[in-house]
Formats: sequence, structure tokens, C-alpha cells
Amino acid sequence: MKKLLHIFTLFLIFAFTAPALAEHHSVKNAGTAASAHPEATKAGFEILQAGGSATDAAMAMMLALTVVEPQSSGIGGGGFFLHHDAQSGWMQTIDGREKAPAAAGSARFLDSNGEPLGRRAAVPGGISVGVPGNMRLMEMAHQKWGKLPWEKIFEPAIRLAENGYAVSAPQYDWIKRLGPLWKDFPQIAELYWKDGAPIPRGTMIKNPELASLLRDLQKGGADAFYTGETAEAIKNAVAAAPKNPALITDDDLGNYRAILRRPVCNSYRTYKICGMGPPSSGATTVLQILGMIEKYDMGELYKKEPVRAWHVIGEAMRLAYADREKYLGDQDFVAVPVAGLIDKSYLAKRSGLIALQTARPQLPGTEQYPAGSPPGAQIRTAALSSEVSGTTHFTAVDGEGNIANMTSTVEGPFGSQLIARGMVLNNELTDFTFAPVKDGAPVANRVQPGKRPLSSMSPTIVYNAHGKPILALGSAGGKRIIMHVTKTLIGVLDYDLPLDKAMAMPNIFFGGSGLLLENGSTLVKHKDDLARMGHLVVTTNLPSKLAGAQKTEKGWVGAVDPRSFGEAVSELP
Ligand code: GLY
Repeated sequence: MKKLLHIFTLFLIFAFTAPALAEHHSVKNAGTAASAHPEATKAGFEILQAGGSATDAAMAMMLALTVVEPQSSGIGGGGFFLHHDAQSGWMQTIDGREKAPAAAGSARFLDSNGEPLGRRAAVPGGISVGVPGNMRLMEMAHQKWGKLPWEKIFEPAIRLAENGYAVSAPQYDWIKRLGPLWKDFPQIAELYWKDGAPIPRGTMIKNPELASLLRDLQKGGADAFYTGETAEAIKNAVAAAPKNPALITDDDLGNYRAILRRPVCNSYRTYKICGMGPPSSGATTVLQILGMIEKYDMGELYKKEPVRAWHVIGEAMRLAYADREKYLGDQDFVAVPVAGLIDKSYLAKRSGLIALQTARPQLPGTEQYPAGSPPGAQIRTAALSSEVSGTTHFTAVDGEGNIANMTSTVEGPFGSQLIARGMVLNNELTDFTFAPVKDGAPVANRVQPGKRPLSSMSPTIVYNAHGKPILALGSAGGKRIIMHVTKTLIGVLDYDLPLDKAMAMPNIFFGGSGLLLENGSTLVKHKDDLARMGHLVVTTNLPSKLAGAQKTEKGWVGAVDPRSFGEAVSELP
């Protein structure tokens, strides 16, 4: 894999930049780490080399990303964590999704006329901030699967915050785009906007306030986040927000719990594919798309008639997303028919709506891609949530074959734009659907106190016919995450591509009534053929940020999306 070429370079870099390693005998066959930022990957690999488990390495990456990729994720946000235990063969998931504070009612994102706010009005400031989940998630993951002492896992992130890191090209681009908004948000401007201009790429920046917060968490554990000085800082940042001030209380913070949830799994051909259930729509939607295309020999179809393979994927995508919009939400608040949505006979019926030659017709007065009625469904209306991309994914596999696979987010780029003790606070509450009722029926993903907003994050682990894990991956990309992951799964499992090549395949999505094809990709050459089949085709930018690892004959090898700034490091047995 292309990124493997970096391994030896990175070994050299480690030798000179990671003094902490000198304290430990470096472990042979340390494993694999992959993330969207080379510094975070280095942090994960350093922890693996120090004898850490996959979980220790993933948590070191989560902390390092708080420092080096604050536009995407961090301890001021939340995430979903998948773990495969090599010894027992068990897979478990932890839900560290942000929670709506008690003060967040169904009118939170409505204006004085009862109309939904626009995103631009809703995102910046206090009303969009959910109670962060990542520190309780880390605490639970470390208690269950950690090997190194808690304190050790913080070392790389603290070094990065204290000694500085170089502003990356993607970070610079986000700073430049968001800077104009920061005239009202002086604290974030102070960190990333100097002398009236965005900090140029390559500039070393330090974040001593964040370093001090990380040191407190290193000493005091997750409690030092949800109580005391940090809790005060979060409450104050939200209450004194220059726009949209709001209330988060001691109880909101003190009562936050990460939740161990049952993974959602289904078979696909000879494989078993597992992912995150509600409040994520990831696993159900990925599994629905795959369930609908399973009757086709996708490998043959792609070889002989690639345009038809893309058409089938596109049709299954739109039918699956119609169900997603209608039925998915936080299952602790609304009944989500998880088993019904991935029921094979239901999916066979849904697949019958796909014609191999033409797109579904748009008939007057009907939905072109209607939601279905999965077994166990209650009456609901479809209502789009409005998430965008400020997310990241990272994967670690240790020498024993344990897998830690996490997607983490602050929601939009730089979250709410609010800073508490040097960390960016999320805007995850804008992942709720703003209108609580549509066509007289309650919307599954409406805001309710204590509820977790619907997510598209799709961390996924694939098992072969012998029950052995062969693939772990995930992506950023808002609602598109599901498609970036599904496309990659089809690339590996049906087209027999190595993981990095499958990640590089073109991205496809939909918008309005059209099929969106990734600008500059090979998919664009099928534009006219797809239009002849009845699709309204639009070419556009569809960035993704996949990361993951694949079991090869030589061992686990990490891979990252060629569209991303990320890096994978692997040490083979
Ligand atoms: N905020 C992106 C997601 O949760 O899907």
C-alpha cells in the first residue's frame, strides 16, 4: 500500500522526536495506527510501541487530534468506539455521543415564528453545544481494554500542545474560511488568527491552556472534565457565548454517561459486517444498502458494466437514506426498528424497487425514493437532519490482534466556535432535526432534553466466514460518511481491491433530486450514461477522510484516504 512507503521514514522520525520511547523497550510487531493527521498516527504508534493495547493507541490518537485537528474532533465533542477482542472474539461498542442538556427543548432551533432556524444562525455559540462524551468514553474503554497506565496515554498529546505542531494545509483552509465569523469569537481567533490573518500553514502553534487541561485530566481522570474547573469553564463558555448563549448545568455534566451498546451486525455474502447502532444511523444504513445489492454479482457487474454497478449502488443508497430519515433517532427516546430495517426479507422487497436499466421514475404526487415499512416500525414522517462535516476517524490494531476503531467529531468545522480551557466545544445539537413535527407526526430525531442527536458516523468491522476480523474502517463526511464507508466495503469485498485502492474509488451521493458524482473522479466519465438511464446528474466536490486497517497475508496494514492529510503506520510481524 502506498502509505506503507512512509513506514521507514516515520521510524526514523520517531527515533528523533519521541523521547518518551527511550523509556520503554519498543515492542516488536507493535501493530497498526491510522488517522487523519500524521502527528496523531505517530501518537498512536508510539503508544503501541510502548506496549499499549489497540484501545490505548486509539485513545492517544483521540487526545492528539484534540490538539492538532481541533476543526474536526476532540475531547470537547463525542464519538463512537468499536472494539474487537482478539482473545474472546467479541465485538462491543461504546456510545460517547454528546447529549442535549436539560434546558434543550423541542423549540431550541425554532425562531420566534416557530420556523426552523437556518444552520448559520443555529451553529455558532451556546445553543448548539451538547454535553461532551469523549472523556467518559475514554474512561470506559480504558477500564475495559487499556493496558498502559491512564497517565501514559496523555503524553503525546501534552507534548504536542506544549511544544507545538505545524498548521496543516486542511487546517489552514478551515481557519481561512471561518476567520470572518471569529470577529464575534475572540477566544478562538486568539488561537488561530494572528495579526488580522489566518495563521499560515506550517507555522508551529502551541496551546498551553489545552496542555494544562490535559495535565489535569491525566492526573484527575474523566471526573476532572465533568466537575471542578473544567466543568466551570464549559458552563461559562456556553452561558457567556457572544452569540446564542445557553445553559449547561452541573447536573448535565455530572450525569453524563458513556453507554456500552450492542453492535448492529448482518451478513453480507460470506462476511459478517458490524457497526454502530442508534443514535448512529451508520450500521443500519450501510447494511441496508449492502442488503439491497446483495442479489447482484457486483464484481462481475463492475467488470462488465461499471455504469450499471454505480447505478445499482445509487438506487440502493437513495432507498436506504429514505428509511434513515424516517426511522432513525436516539433509541433511548424513540422506538427504532433496528431489526426490521436490516431484515433480509424486508430488504429483498426493497431491492425489488430497483430496476437494472433505469432510475426510479419521478411520478407526480409520489416520492421517487419512498421510505418503506420495515417490520416493527411506528408511524413517522421523514425529515432531513442538517449535519455537515467536522469529523475524523482513526483505527488501531495491536500485535495481539485487538482492534480499536473510532469515529469522533465536534460536528461542524471548529464546532460551536466556543473555546473552554483551550479546547473547541462541539455544535453536535445541530445534528438534531430542527422541526419537531412534520405533517402532524413527531420527527424521530427532534430535540428532547437528555437525548443524543442522530449521527451518520459509521465505524465498521468486517469478519470473514471463519469469524475472523479482516477489515476495520470509518470516515468523516457528515451524512455522506455512510456512502464513503459502503463504497469502500464494496471495493474490498466485491471488487477485491486492497483497502487503500477501495478508499480511492470515486465518491457518490445524492442531493435534491440528483445523483452527485465526485468532481475529477473516473465516475464523471459515466455522467452521460447515467443521465440516459434517467438520473439527474451533477458533478461536485465530495471530499472524504477514510482511515482503517486490513488484514493481509503479511498482517494488519493501515490505510488512509488519498484525499486526506492522514497517515497510516504499520509494523508487520
Ligand atoms: N456530526 C457528524 C455525525 O455525527 O454524523
